[in-house]
Amino acid sequence: MAETTLRPSQLIAPLFVAEGLDAPRPITSLPGQFQHSLASLVDEVRKLQAVGVESVILFGLPEHKDERGSQAWAADGIIQVALRRLRDEFGDDIIAMADTCLDEFTSHGHCGLLRDDGSVDNDATLELYGQMAVAQAAAGAAVVGPSGMMDGQVGVMRSMLDDAGYLDTIIMAYTAKYASALYGPFREAVDVSIAGGGDRKAYQQDYSNRRESLREARLDIAEGADIIMVKPAMTYLDVVADLAGTVDVPVAAYHVSGEYAMIKAAAAQGWIDGPAVALEQLTAIRRAGADMILTYFAHEIAQELSQ
Ligand code: PBG
Repeated sequence: MAETTLRPSQLIAPLFVAEGLDAPRPITSLPGQFQHSLASLVDEVRKLQAVGVESVILFGLPEHKDERGSQAWAADGIIQVALRRLRDEFGDDIIAMADTCLDEFTSHGHCGLLRDDGSVDNDATLELYGQMAVAQAAAGAAVVGPSGMMDGQVGVMRSMLDDAGYLDTIIMAYTAKYASALYGPFREAVDVSIAGGGDRKAYQQDYSNRRESLREARLDIAEGADIIMVKPAMTYLDVVADLAGTVDVPVAAYHVSGEYAMIKAAAAQGWIDGPAVALEQLTAIRRAGADMILTYFAHEIAQELSQ
């Protein structure tokens, strides 16, 4: 009789894959999460599959970064290599998604190209996002996930994907992505620091604004987004509910690194029951209207649910 369901198939596991790594390396601020080698990535996906999680989203750690982030779209860039590996191992049994953003690949850590004055050049960046999407699709990504918050990124990616023949590649747009303090552990996970101690407030959203997300959603859907995402999740359930009640595409929510880390840290102290809190939060995100949830709890909670 419960109004809201939470199933393993509604969870998407974010996974980190590092170039040149022989063995998985634990991420201190995300207990239980790893920077993966190609081999341990495959093992992890198999473990997820065993508990009913069918979707993963890949983040790459390249060995070499440069100002343009060229490893992001190189055919032998780490995300592309990992996507091909997953396709070989799992075929269509796993929905392989890729984060489509430059920040893991640029030497300055920003999500776009920089002008001489250090500001991000939105329009000059768009073509690179398109190239990155095409490279990911060519390597076997079923879903690309533009997360850079550049205006116009979805439209450019859709048209470049279509021109390259990837008509069926799904775009899951990070639509309402707030400039949040909750991404801290993620930046350790991908080894990204923003040059000069900068931030992303010029391109990510101001958390004082709620209705701005509706405008972002309308724009992304008009440009061709197939799924829209709200990020982070718990502090933005109002936004999830707004969008779920307004749009006619699926809505995803990203329960981000800081949200995971807070639960893990408090649970490690014995102050809260970690799995119970995680289950409550993920259910609340579904109750607010999210069709799917990106979460580092994917394996743990799916295992719990399947018991
Ligand atoms: C950008 C990106 C970020 C996250 C996902 N994609 C970091 C950022 O915007 O600074 C954060 C996810 C998390 O905190 O779990 N590539």
